[in-house]
Amino acid sequence: MKNILFAASESVPFVKTGGLADVVGSLPYSFDPEEYDVRVVLPCYTMIPEKYRSQMRYLTHFYSFFNGCDRYIGIKELVINGITFYFIDNEEYFGGAYPYTDYYYDIEKFCFFSKAVLSILPSIGFRPDIIHCHDWHSGLVPVYLKTEFAKDPFYRGIRSVMTIHNLKFQGVYGAETMQKITGLPAELFSIDKLLTYRDGNMLKGGLVYADRITTVSPTYAEEIKTPEYGEGLEGLFRARSHEFTGILNGIDFTSFDPEKDPALARNYTAADFKKKKVQNKLALQKELGLEQDNKVMMIGIVSRLTEQKGLELVAQVLSEILSSRVQLVVLGTGEYRYEDMFRTASRNNPKQVSANFFYSEELSRRIYASSDAFLMPSRFEPCGLSQLIALRYGTLPIVRETGGLKDTVVPYNRFTGEGTGFSFEIYNPYVFLDTVRYSLKTFYENKKAWNKLAERAMAQDFSWTASAKKYEELYTELLTH
Ligand code: ADP
Ligand code: GLC
Repeated sequence: MKNILFAASESVPFVKTGGLADVVGSLPYSFDPEEYDVRVVLPCYTMIPEKYRSQMRYLTHFYSFFNGCDRYIGIKELVINGITFYFIDNEEYFGGAYPYTDYYYDIEKFCFFSKAVLSILPSIGFRPDIIHCHDWHSGLVPVYLKTEFAKDPFYRGIRSVMTIHNLKFQGVYGAETMQKITGLPAELFSIDKLLTYRDGNMLKGGLVYADRITTVSPTYAEEIKTPEYGEGLEGLFRARSHEFTGILNGIDFTSFDPEKDPALARNYTAADFKKKKVQNKLALQKELGLEQDNKVMMIGIVSRLTEQKGLELVAQVLSEILSSRVQLVVLGTGEYRYEDMFRTASRNNPKQVSANFFYSEELSRRIYASSDAFLMPSRFEPCGLSQLIALRYGTLPIVRETGGLKDTVVPYNRFTGEGTGFSFEIYNPYVFLDTVRYSLKTFYENKKAWNKLAERAMAQDFSWTASAKKYEELYTELLTH
């Protein structure tokens, strides 16, 4: 049996702000349970719904010195469908209504979290062979493991993997302050270790000290070796390229299943989607106050509203898109300027555009099911889960060929008929607009081809099975070398 511990800041069903939570909360279920005991450690945020908090079992607590004083570290545990989740309890750090708050405070609390992940291990009766860290929040785990904790025989031989879900966020703060918070030796704050320019960089620490590095798609793994996508760390990825791979994300095919999804007005399969998808569309049009029209092409967006998602392109050609016969349904939260853009569009075209600025798992599923196409023209996209969900629901993604979008969406080729969606390469609003127009033309003038694409989209297997195997291979390789 190999013991693996995931360390992350979010996981469904407890706390989610993006795809990271989906990955952390679904991948552990896909490993061979005969060979892998995969568990997860998270912060015990007080904003985790009471439904889960009340079921958590208190294991123990102790005090540990961190940033100037002894800090409380409580450990709680909750088993969900056979997977054990540990929660590190400290209300001072993990209180409040949101998992992320003030920039400085987030740095301090995830430094605390990284260290606490290691401190709790002797008390939980589970000694991991590998700690698998996700994003900058747990970036200091490999650093502490190879430095401060290396003296203790309990920790000797524990390996670490660092997975990048989003390189945009690295956990960067003034080196002196970070050194004081973490208590790490000053010599670690050098340019070949934790330092970028004059700042301490938590993710970089993880990338330098972890035994293996992964990111969530093969294309993104290549992209971040270049200055355009590397966010200043491209040299590091090139230098460690032999210990660095891209493994594509999957989605939970049991939960995201148009045949069984209870959120839909009508369930459907690849055999009857032509009749039933449209009934979902009519129901959603009614729900959102759009014109009820079963023939109009509906485009969905379910997204964090940030620049990453290519919304700058959308902003530049939104009125051109809306001058076509099309409906747009948006669900997302994020930057005010993008909310404002969709709010205005919806105010001016209430029967054509529905803009919804909140988080709703259920509405998201109805949008995936009801739309004909799904818009995701990202500027960069480590993997992207939304396009995978869209494919599963027979909704054709319109994407930019970057990162995981390039690895998962096959562009329509009208000569051969092949494809599972529409895509473009250059980050330019008119190239993007052309692609949207091409999809509209295909929808209205070649419905047969469109339906073939949708059928093929639904037949794609982006469940976790294949990718979990790749992580298993990585773990095996790491433990035998
Ligand atoms: P990212 O992690 O960069 O935000 P992903 O595509 O990997 O992008 O994952 C986003 C996930 O969050 C998807 O499951 C998507 O459906 C979901 N999501 C995003 N915004 C909302 C929202 N407002 N309501 C419900 N689900 C949302
Ligand atoms: C990040 C990325 C997204 C990826 C997700 C899960 O939030 O932006 O592309 O799918 O993490 O790995």
